[in-house]
Amino acid sequence: RKIAELRSEIANFKQRESGKADSTVGFVPTMGYLHDGHASLIRQSATDNGLTVLSIFVNPIQFGPGEDLDKYPRDEERDIRVASDSGADIVFLPSVEEMYPRRRVTTVTVDDVTDRLCGASRPGHFDGVATVVVKLFNIVQPDRAYFGQKDAQQVAVIERMTQDLNIPVEIVPCPILREEDGLALSSRNVYLSPEQRQEALVLSKSLARIPEWIAEGMNATRLIASLKDFIGQSPLADIDYVDVLTYPDLSPPDGDMPLFETDSNLLIAVAVRFGRTRLIDNRLLKPT
Ligand code: PAJ
Repeated sequence: RKIAELRSEIANFKQRESGKADSTVGFVPTMGYLHDGHASLIRQSATDNGLTVLSIFVNPIQFGPGEDLDKYPRDEERDIRVASDSGADIVFLPSVEEMYPRRRVTTVTVDDVTDRLCGASRPGHFDGVATVVVKLFNIVQPDRAYFGQKDAQQVAVIERMTQDLNIPVEIVPCPILREEDGLALSSRNVYLSPEQRQEALVLSKSLARIPEWIAEGMNATRLIASLKDFIGQSPLADIDYVDVLTYPDLSPPDGDMPLFETDSNLLIAVAVRFGRTRLIDNRLLKPT
């Protein structure tokens, strides 16, 4: 729970393992209420590194007013069990006071790649993410850090930030884990009523249509419209955004060009509200 305690455990490991092949430190930052998506990051880190550190910290500064900070789901005991079963060696659970002991006057701001998608819907969100991730990187000093493509924009922001600030860590993006019926795993899925849970399948189902729509020759504008139409058929779905951007620079592709002619990676990302619960999902397409 204490930064000093964590640092000394990591220092012990490095001293013990120094010079050996497996002396690298992997880091998986989370906000807890772990599911198999989180577990897959832990497993990847445990495969790649001699020591895996998992952090569980519901970071207050990345939540906006009226968001779910107060009711964000928590289950520390279960999380610790999942973490150790998945191969984490250390679970770091700092308090808010430990992470923010006094009024914060320093904030890490990443411009440009944060002004669309979730950054546009959640002002200040990525400042909060970037700031806490830099703090955690400085506390853990990992060789590698693992992030899920579920939050594709977060990966783009963290990659850009580590390059811009020369932070010596390798960012490892990991694939999206889904329920058997296609719903992307998320700690927030527990908020959904059975009816909302059923309708939430429109996210993954709409994204599954993309290859066929692109093969038909759709440009970005048409693809966005088709996705919105598809999602709009669900009466409980309230669309926050649907967008098509190049990846990882997150700029709009030429709106008129058929997407199969694009020579960059494309991120197709959706955010949809069901009642008060906001869900996100995406697909990343490589040029053919
Ligand atoms: P959290 O939402 O707990 O997610 C922690 C990590 O798990 C993120 O990298 C996220 O992309 C990944 N993840 C979540 N659902 C996933 C899924 N279905 N498949 C694969 N990976 C998944 O993201 C955060 O916390 C915070 O913003 C954080 C980076 C910890 C900073 O506070």
